Amino acid sequence: MDMQLKGKNILVTASSRGIGKAIAEQLAKEGANLILCSRSEEQLLELASSLQTQYGIEAVGRKVDLSSRTSIDELIAWLHTSCPTLDGLVCNTGGPPKGNLMTLDEQDWADAFQLQLMSIVRLIKGCLPLLAVNGGNILTIASSSVKQPIPGLLLSNTFRTAVAGFMKSIASECAEQRVLVNTLCPGRIATDRIAELDHSLAAETSQSIEVIQAQFERAIPLGRYGQPQELAAFAAFLLSPLNSYMTGSAFLFDGGMVQAL
Ligand SMILES: NC(=O)c1ccc[n+]([C@@H]2O[C@H](COP(=O)([O-])OP(=O)(O)OC[C@H]3O[C@@H](n4cnc5c(N)ncnc54)[C@H](OP(=O)(O)O)[C@@H]3O)[C@@H](O)[C@H]2O)c1
Repeated sequence: MDMQLKGKNILVTASSRGIGKAIAEQLAKEGANLILCSRSEEQLLELASSLQTQYGIEAVGRKVDLSSRTSIDELIAWLHTSCPTLDGLVCNTGGPPKGNLMTLDEQDWADAFQLQLMSIVRLIKGCLPLLAVNGGNILTIASSSVKQPIPGLLLSNTFRTAVAGFMKSIASECAEQRVLVNTLCPGRIATDRIAELDHSLAAETSQSIEVIQAQFERAIPLGRYGQPQELAAFAAFLLSPLNSYMTGSAFLFDGGMVQAL
């Protein structure tokens, strides 16, 4: 199916690894031109160059720390001078650390506020004028914690729901500019982050990594973790002109894991 993404300009943040990288690769396969960013300049330049060679698209990598207002402001200023229009924006970030009420300190809360919530507010506010030129799509990567809290991930449970509330709230304002906004809520997608969380739980509970993963898999009706490429295919659809009527929604991508209607 032609996703009509050829020649579209799309910014994908936190795209050096994991879900962000998989979305960038899927969009490149569909012929979109990409702006990639994260803190690892070398990895981004390598990815941009390999996507250009493989798919004949234009791709640039920029070093950006999404927890820093200054760094995001610099990215937005650069976009406004180098990229006259944007057709899509993927707001992805690094995940917050584990922790509970009594283990997280003031700094953990302040850091999560900046990275998990304010990065998205700043990116969307800064990019909306560029997206409004031709209309476009915004996709934010949140978590299944939006629908069902995850034990031991209090920062995710708190700030991802704030993100979902923010995205729903701006849908009308963005629709006036012909920009559609949606949120994607992964369950357990096999990336470095999920591997780190599983290893940490295995160490805490003195169980093997295989036992931990088998426990999670039993709680997923499809019986396995998702692959980043599976999520990326759905993300590409939401970012494409084929999505012409879904906005203000939060979509679970979890193999049926969340036990909520
Ligand atoms: N995987 C899942 O099943 C799952 C489930 C629920 C929610 N999520 C959420 O989805 C997002 C992506 O997850 P993932 O599994 O792909 O994570 P990942 O494999 O750990 O990748 C995280 C990405 O974020 C970038 N990043 C981290 N901190 C950054 C910062 N301050 N500024 C700019 N870039 C930053 C990293 O690049 P650099 O290190 O190069 O900066 C990397 O590209 C996370 O927010 C995660 O919590 C994932």
